[in-house]
Amino acid sequence: MLVHAITANTAYEFAADVRTGLARSRQKELPSKYLYDDVGTALFEVISHLPEYGLTRADERLLRRHACEIVDHLDSPVAVAELGSGSGKKTRWILEALSRRERTFYYPVEISRSALAMCERELSDIDALSIVGFEREYLDGLLEVAAHRQRGQHLFVLFLGSTIGNFHRPAGIEFLTEVRRILEPGDSLLLGTDLEKPSAQLLRAYDDELGVTAAFDLNLLARINRELDADFDLGQFAHVARINHDARSVEMHLQSKRQQTVRISAADLSVEFFEGETIWTESSHKYSREEVFQMARDSGFACQTQWIDDQWPFAENLLVAE
Ligand code: AVI
Repeated sequence: MLVHAITANTAYEFAADVRTGLARSRQKELPSKYLYDDVGTALFEVISHLPEYGLTRADERLLRRHACEIVDHLDSPVAVAELGSGSGKKTRWILEALSRRERTFYYPVEISRSALAMCERELSDIDALSIVGFEREYLDGLLEVAAHRQRGQHLFVLFLGSTIGNFHRPAGIEFLTEVRRILEPGDSLLLGTDLEKPSAQLLRAYDDELGVTAAFDLNLLARINRELDADFDLGQFAHVARINHDARSVEMHLQSKRQQTVRISAADLSVEFFEGETIWTESSHKYSREEVFQMARDSGFACQTQWIDDQWPFAENLLVAE
């Protein structure tokens, strides 16, 4: 695989974002994209196998069952861009179905170099498939893919796994609108959305018995220690999952077990925590089936078809650029 790489997040940007998020006088926050260094990416891969976390398996089941039908909706020739490919495992079914029909170009866009490497290992056996990876933030990568578009070629964008749920709702619409701006009428977007489910089930999914999600969350502090020369004592923070009923989301927080001060040298920052205070590290929004149609309209798409999993409420939505 050819990989177009730039340093997607410089240490400088990371330090600036950590300073902004932890110097806040109210709720401290860290952007969830920083959960995904090599260790975080590997831990997320484990989360996707946990019995409590059915999201990834639902996504995979839908893609496996409906790949041919999904591909039948696409006009030829088509190039596939995936925003946040992860290991690429669940994309196999779509790529196999498409490459049986025509020579297929697949452009995974990822901020994690190790995920791009996994993706190549996973998919390189598919005939008639060319893979070109972009180590970029989503929109930067998609802009480059669009710039390489050949005459008459349609773009098919995959945004799977309900990553849209990690955006606050208005930011999610803004993001989809940006994606739409890069596309042309008739291009399409397959959007995975995790649907609403009972609070107890969500709490188990985001605070599993084995503690893998806790390790995934705490790794963010370990990453700050490693990359920004900080002295977080990981034993003095606990992972907490909370339901936010107003936002219809589940939130991850890291809660300080005592009053403490942490020094982050590369951000030139000392942070005070009081006992019980939290750092908000991620929100995962859940959707109703109907609201996806409205989200599509609000961002310049029409939701043409929706497939729902029968075991874990999750929807695969095919949006067409208007
Ligand atoms: C990547 N994203 C869709 C996951 C989610 O469910 O929101 C991230 C995750 N966080 C904890 N577990 C999984």
